[in-house]
Amino acid sequence: MRKPANVAVVGLGFGEAFVPIYQAHPGVGKVALVDLSTERLERVGNVYGVEARFTAYEDMLADPAWDAVHILAPVSFHSKYTLAALRAGKHVACAVPMATDLSDIEEIIEAQVASGKQYMMMETSVYAREFRAVENMLHDDTLGELTVYKGVHIQNLDGYPPYWLGFPPMQYITHALSPALKLTGAGVQDVVAYGTGRLDEARIGDSGNPFPTEVGLFRLAGHDLVPEVTMSFFKAARPYIEGFTVYGSKASVEWPVVEKDRPLTYELQDLDPHQADTGLRGRRSHTGELEIDDGTELLPEPLRRFVDRYEVVPADGGIPIWKSAEHGGSHPHLVHEFISSIIDERPPLIGPVTAAEWTAPGICAHESAMNDGLRIAVPQYRSRA
Ligand SMILES: NC(=O)c1ccc[n+]([C@@H]2O[C@H](COP(=O)([O-])OP(=O)(O)OC[C@H]3O[C@@H](n4cnc5c(N)ncnc54)[C@H](O)[C@@H]3O)[C@@H](O)[C@H]2O)c1
Repeated sequence: MRKPANVAVVGLGFGEAFVPIYQAHPGVGKVALVDLSTERLERVGNVYGVEARFTAYEDMLADPAWDAVHILAPVSFHSKYTLAALRAGKHVACAVPMATDLSDIEEIIEAQVASGKQYMMMETSVYAREFRAVENMLHDDTLGELTVYKGVHIQNLDGYPPYWLGFPPMQYITHALSPALKLTGAGVQDVVAYGTGRLDEARIGDSGNPFPTEVGLFRLAGHDLVPEVTMSFFKAARPYIEGFTVYGSKASVEWPVVEKDRPLTYELQDLDPHQADTGLRGRRSHTGELEIDDGTELLPEPLRRFVDRYEVVPADGGIPIWKSAEHGGSHPHLVHEFISSIIDERPPLIGPVTAAEWTAPGICAHESAMNDGLRIAVPQYRSRA
């Protein structure tokens, strides 16, 4: 086995959740923190007992002590920081989206190859317990043929940092679309999308995007399923929802309307030839609850506690804090896949080509929406794998 990897966590908002997981991973040596905010660096550094702290990303990159970075800075830094790290000879994990521009995607694919280092897009949805359960149902043929998919991500961004103003919803599509692409193993051929609703000037910022919500239909390459995705960041009055519903020819899974409820399953029953003529026709379905799968056994022992609510005992003697395992318990699985790819010297599950396949359709969908639903061909990346 190779020596443990030293990892720098960049951006300590969402990024904080990953710090104790890297610290616990047996394949990780030291952990460093990077953030522009000295206050955040100090607070997170003190809680987790991390000595290596950087306010300048470039200083960390220049330090050969760090083998890998996990980028959780705002979206506008994702591609720039990814390219700089690969070119500095470091492995890269990056929060979604990979990029918001097709040319940046191209550049990352090329830079990863040139670097010989690993790149992974840290898509939470396909490592969530619900997704794992649905994937199990597909593999054991409970679902049958997939015929309908509806992905949804509605999150009200009022009051978020100003860089979210006018963010084109489809450019953040990966949580809502990638489950369909992972289940089918297909990429997107083309997309038709529309913007729905209108952003007021104050929420457009300097983005140029007028749409609070975008809806799209994604035709797959080599699969008959046509995923439908709704992405909304403003002006849709409901609590946060991020999930997907999938109908199969034998059984289906519907995402709950209320967060933390269990998804429902429907299993189609055989037609009853003796069914009484009550006016109800067609096949009935049996309703149940999805049996979620935390995948705990897939993780090294020290990471297992992070699939659920976990305790943090501050290194500076503060009061212990309980943290919830957000995003379907996906965080330890993402860390384990990234670190394993470095140690085993193999591409991670969501390498640059898969990341491109899961990101580019959203960029093209926004272009379609901006052009009144024009059908846009999505670049094909598979030959680059
Ligand atoms: N489910 C998911 O995959 C998921 C969930 C939440 C956030 N995210 C992504 O993670 C990233 C971070 O989200 P967030 O909600 O924590 O954002 P945030 O703006 O709340 O926090 C970002 C942190 O990065 C720091 N920062 C800002 N610019 C920086 C720079 N140039 N270099 C280093 N640090 C910098 C800020 O000081 C802050 O501590 C975003 O890209 C977001 O899209 C993904």
